Order: sequence, then structure tokens, then C-alpha cells
Amino acid sequence: MAEEIHPFPSATKSFYPHLQINHFFHFLFFVIGLSLGLITSICYHSFPFISSRPSPYSFASSPPQSQPTTMTVSTGLASPPPSLLVISRSNGTNSNDTSIVSLKEHNVLMHGMKDEELFWRASMVPRIQETPYEDVRPKVAFMFLTKGPMPLALLWEKFFHGYQGLYSIYVHAHPSFNDTTPESSVFYGRRIPSQPVYWGSITMIDAERRLLANALLDFSNQRFILLSESCIPLFNFSTIYSYLLNSDLSFVGSFDDPRGPGRGRYNPRMQPHIRLSHWRKGAQWFELRRDLAVHVVSDRKYYPLFRDFCRPACYSDEHYLPTLVNILYAKTNSNRSVTFVDWSRGGPHPRKFGGVDVTDELLNRIRFGSKCFYNGNETSMCFLFARKFLPNTLEPLLRVAPVLLGFDP
Ligand SMILES: *[C@@H]1O[C@H](CO)[C@@H](O)[C@H](O)[C@H]1NC(C)=O
Ligand SMILES: *[C@@H]1O[C@H](CO)[C@@H](O)[C@H](O)[C@H]1NC(C)=O
Ligand SMILES: *[C@@H]1O[C@H](CO)[C@@H](O)[C@H](O)[C@H]1NC(C)=O
Ligand SMILES: *[C@@H]1O[C@H](CO)[C@@H](O)[C@H](O)[C@H]1NC(C)=O
Ligand SMILES: *[C@@H]1O[C@H](CO)[C@@H](O)[C@H](O)[C@H]1NC(C)=O
Ligand SMILES: *[C@@H]1O[C@H](CO)[C@@H](O)[C@H](O)[C@H]1NC(C)=O
Repeated sequence: MAEEIHPFPSATKSFYPHLQINHFFHFLFFVIGLSLGLITSICYHSFPFISSRPSPYSFASSPPQSQPTTMTVSTGLASPPPSLLVISRSNGTNSNDTSIVSLKEHNVLMHGMKDEELFWRASMVPRIQETPYEDVRPKVAFMFLTKGPMPLALLWEKFFHGYQGLYSIYVHAHPSFNDTTPESSVFYGRRIPSQPVYWGSITMIDAERRLLANALLDFSNQRFILLSESCIPLFNFSTIYSYLLNSDLSFVGSFDDPRGPGRGRYNPRMQPHIRLSHWRKGAQWFELRRDLAVHVVSDRKYYPLFRDFCRPACYSDEHYLPTLVNILYAKTNSNRSVTFVDWSRGGPHPRKFGGVDVTDELLNRIRFGSKCFYNGNETSMCFLFARKFLPNTLEPLLRVAPVLLGFDP
């Protein structure tokens, strides 16, 4: 490991031109340099994050067995920061595979990387399509953008129950939020290093990219869905999983709104990269294919234009992704969101659903009350998730979930 420690060997080397001394001194300096190198190397081993920004929260205390299905494949683990290339195995039966087991790391979500480094790592794409691991199954990344508490967590627990290895969860909460998630929860240890998010500002896009980047580090994640604490699933896990995995398209709402709140928010200073004809609007709640997700975290062309020229009353969360997708991925986008929001009452905020609203009739209207295309065929199953559901909907939702939503009893 000594060759990875730069400060001392290079400092020693730079002395040589100034020292016209005999071989004995050369040898002495070499021994001292080597010793310092070894000592430094040992120090780095003891404090693997010594040079990293202290994380606002640490997942170091979480026992590795809390994530039995996740193995870390990495290179150069000894050098800070930790390598985070991850292959998740669908189950742990292949535990003889020492090349993987010996590299099993702490909880994968613990890192001290700044966004710049995180996005760089997440932007890497393997050029060999076939993985060398036989039992890797594609996963859906469920990315929760929250303020903190998750009042509907129990519904999600039931939703995920029994499907380990087919999903991964990421939670972006406010950094000051004090987590009390029990170890038995699927949300335990799934928070990612975060920054405050201010409504309507570019920090919202930053948080979305941070979620995507963390999720991209796991190569098994193939689909990436953004959710909030007020979202609910409308079908059981197996239905949603196959709907997403079998689709050729991303689900990003993207349409041309000729009115003031659409084209009126376009800023001509975004030219020439973004012209008015490129400009699109859509709901924030996206679902992305992996190739598009990689492009979003590695975008250095369009993001700065939104950061600088899309300020209220222009909201990046309503325009950045719809426009980016329209420019780069129009052919692989469905132009619709799979997350239902009720804007039918007008006004600046969507309808909030409370406990008394939760009926079979309402849920079935959301589940099957629209028309759209899925893989080229018309269908009435357009939404997989819905918002905004208030905390007091938990109890009625848990009651209808087994039969109506088809959750495992
Ligand atoms: C593990 O290795 C042992 C001995 O090499 C072998 O008998 C066993 O079948 C292996 N198990 C698996 C799951 O590969
Ligand atoms: C675990 O993986 C093995 C080997 O790939 C497979 O035969 C087995 O069915 C899997 N078990 C579960 C519970 O998925
Ligand atoms: C979280 O806990 C820390 C230490 O226990 C405390 O200083 C801080 O105020 C708490 N934050 C919130 C938002 O409650
Ligand atoms: C989505 O919209 C783009 C234009 O922005 C169009 O090229 C594409 O065909 C549309 N996709 C579908 C599935 O309708
Ligand atoms: C779409 O319709 C075609 C022809 O009717 C059918 O073969 C195909 O399976 C359908 N695809 C889906 C996803 O339902
Ligand atoms: C999931 O829901 C579908 C449709 O409602 C149902 O056919 C299927 O049996 C359910 N799956 C499980 C594992 O309960």
C-alpha cells in the first residue's frame, strides 16, 4: 500500500537534487521515507475517511448483516475515499465466491464524497454488457425525496416485504433530521448524505441528482423512480416491478405548454443549447431508465443553464428534466408520469387526500381511470403511484392493501 501514499516519497525524492552526499545517506533517507510511508499507510487503514468531509450522519454502526443481499465489489479499498462499485446479488447462496465475499464492505450508503466526486463515479458505464455474476437480477431503485419523517412507511414496508434483491431504497432527508428508523425497517441505513432543499430552487434538482448518483453506484439498479413521503403504491410489488422492467421507455412527463407558466418561463439566455422549441414542462416525479439516469448525473451542459437562468417564477423541477429528455431522449420517453397527482381542482397546489377519501372507488379510479400507451398498446393502467396522501390515510390504506392493491397478505 506504500505506493499509494504520496506525500512522503515525493517529498523525499525532491531532496535528492540538493543533497550531494554519499550512498549511505541515500540509503538512510530511503529507510526513513519507507518507514514514514508505512506508518502513514497504517494510519489510513485505521481512519479510512481521514481526508473526507465528516458526514452529518454515519451509518458505520449498522451491522453488515442488515444488508445481507448487498455485496461490494471494489478496487483499492485501502485508499480513501472508499470505492463504491456495487453488484447486488439476489441472494446470499453463492457465499463461496471469495472474490466477492472478501471485499464485502460496510453499509454501501456511508460515504463522505462531495457531489462532484459522487457524480463522477456515478457517471461510469461498463463497456462489457454481460455481468460475470450469474445470479444478479435487475433492481428498481426507489428514491424518496423527503423532509424527514415518513408517515406512510408502514404501507411501504408491506409493499416491499418478500422482495429482497429486487429493489433498493434511497432516502434524501433534511441533513438535520434525526432518524429513528428501527433496524428491522427496509428504510434502515438507507439515508444518503444530503443537503437542504428549498422549494422551487435548483437545490431540488441537486437532491434528485444526488439520489440518482447514489443509486447508480449499484450496477444492478436498472430503473429509477422518484417518490416523496406522501406517495403511495397503487399495485403490489410484482406488478410494479414487471411494469417498469418490461417497459422500453422512461416515464417523464414532458409537454409543450404554450401559456405563460410554460413557454413564458423560458429565458432566451439559454441559447444556443436550449431553444424555445426545446422547452418542455412536466411534473417532477420521474421514472428513468439507467442510460438516462447516467446522463442526468453527468450533465454539465444543460444543468448550469437552468441553475443560472431558471429562477422563480421558473422552476427547474418542472422544466429541467422534461427539457433535457426532449432534447436527448425523446425517442425513449413516454412523455407521461407514472405518478398520479390530482390537479383537477385548480390552484397552485394539488389536491391532498385524507383518511375519509380512501375508498375502493377512489383508488380504482386512479388505478384504471385513464387511457395511455404502454409499449405501443393502449391501456387503462397508467399510474403506479399516487400523491398527495396525508398521514391519516395510513390506517385505511393498510386495510384495503391486501385485497384491493394485491399486496401479499
Ligand atoms: C462451496 O464450496 C464447497 C467446497 O469447495 C462445495 O462443496 C460447495 O458445493 C460450495 N457451495 C456452493 C454454494 O457453491
Ligand atoms: C438464490 O440463488 C440461487 C442460485 O442462483 C437460486 O437457485 C435460488 O433459487 C435463489 N433463491 C432465492 C430465494 O431467490
Ligand atoms: C438532532 O439531534 C441532535 C443531537 O442529539 C440535536 O442537537 C439536534 O438539535 C437534533 N435535530 C433536530 C432537528 O431535532
Ligand atoms: C414524446 O415526445 C417526443 C417529442 O418531444 C416525441 O418525439 C416522442 O415520439 C413522444 N413519445 C411518445 C411515446 O409519444
Ligand atoms: C400489444 O399488443 C400486441 C398485439 O395485440 C400483443 O402481441 C402484445 O403482447 C401487446 N403488448 C403488451 C405489452 O400488452
Ligand atoms: C399482485 O397483483 C396482481 C394483480 O392485482 C395479482 O394477480 C398477483 O397475484 C399479485 N401478486 C402477489 C404476489 O400477490
